[in-house]
Amino acid sequence: MAQADCPNCAGTGWRIVEQPDENAEMRVVAPANGAHAGAAAGEGKTVWAVPCDCTVGDRRSRVVDRARLPRRYVHCNFESYDTDLGYRSSEAKVWNHSLAQAKLVVQAFARDFPVGAEHGLLLMGPCGVGKTHLAVAALEEIVQRGHSGLFYDYRELLKEIQDSYNPESNSTEMSVLEPVLKTEVLLLDDVGSSKPSPWALETVGHILNTRYNEHRVTLLTTNFLDKDFKRPAVTLPSGEAIAAPGGDTLEDRVGMRIRSRLYEMCRTVEIVAPDYRKEVRHAGFHA
Ligand SMILES: Nc1ncnc2c1ncn2[C@@H]1O[C@H](COP(=O)(O)OP(=O)(O)O)[C@@H](O)[C@H]1O
Ligand SMILES: [Mg+2]
Ligand SMILES: [Zn+2]
Repeated sequence: MAQADCPNCAGTGWRIVEQPDENAEMRVVAPANGAHAGAAAGEGKTVWAVPCDCTVGDRRSRVVDRARLPRRYVHCNFESYDTDLGYRSSEAKVWNHSLAQAKLVVQAFARDFPVGAEHGLLLMGPCGVGKTHLAVAALEEIVQRGHSGLFYDYRELLKEIQDSYNPESNSTEMSVLEPVLKTEVLLLDDVGSSKPSPWALETVGHILNTRYNEHRVTLLTTNFLDKDFKRPAVTLPSGEAIAAPGGDTLEDRVGMRIRSRLYEMCRTVEIVAPDYRKEVRHAGFHA
């Protein structure tokens, strides 16, 4: 909504723009970006209405809501993504390089979309390295340009799939599946975070396959690594040791079929860095 007391639009949300006609013969008007009403030519001037600046925040939040971007991620954009964690050690160079590289790839993806988007992105790395941050930044930039996009937490998607299961048709309600299948960019966050029933996992496979076959792009993040993930064991400045990855791999969590489908449909971006929440903020590098 417009601001009720806005001095520029008196609360209407539309601002009138006038421009003297430079060439009275020429009545074809190229309205400013986002112009609403067709231009009305007056005596030697052209008048049209554009959305007032006081509605910008509003439009932005509508777009964000439509993409189901959770409020806790609204601060996530490329500008707020640090690629220098402030450590000065040889390991830190590797971390900073990894963050910078990931940012470069994801930002280029968002900038060029839909060009060059024959592959999605799978952001892979330990907890707290900013995978969701980068993926959200990309999704938001893309939906702000008018494309459709949807954020889905993996667990929530599985829950919705499970809750909407219809025993009569032995399938999931189309009302849940359709937007997930059709949206131009799907962000599936935290893949592998729960271990679903075999048929729910099959539904996830169906979603990914369909999107792949119909050339729709999927962005995914996961804390589960591949066996050969190149993260060395490190000791953080806090003294905490982070061992090389162990435990479940992504394939253990989603099965071989989905893992290999993801190889085909995504470029894997590995991020190797310490947990931003634990290390960087608390270490006071960012007052
Ligand atoms: N490089 C970074 N620069 C700025 N903020 C970051 C960075 N990495 C992580 N964060 C912040 O730390 C928190 C955790 O990041 P998140 O993206 O949720 O990590 P992940 O998804 O990898 O577990 C978020 O609030 C995020 O904005
Ligand atoms: Mg995350
Ligand atoms: Zn206004």
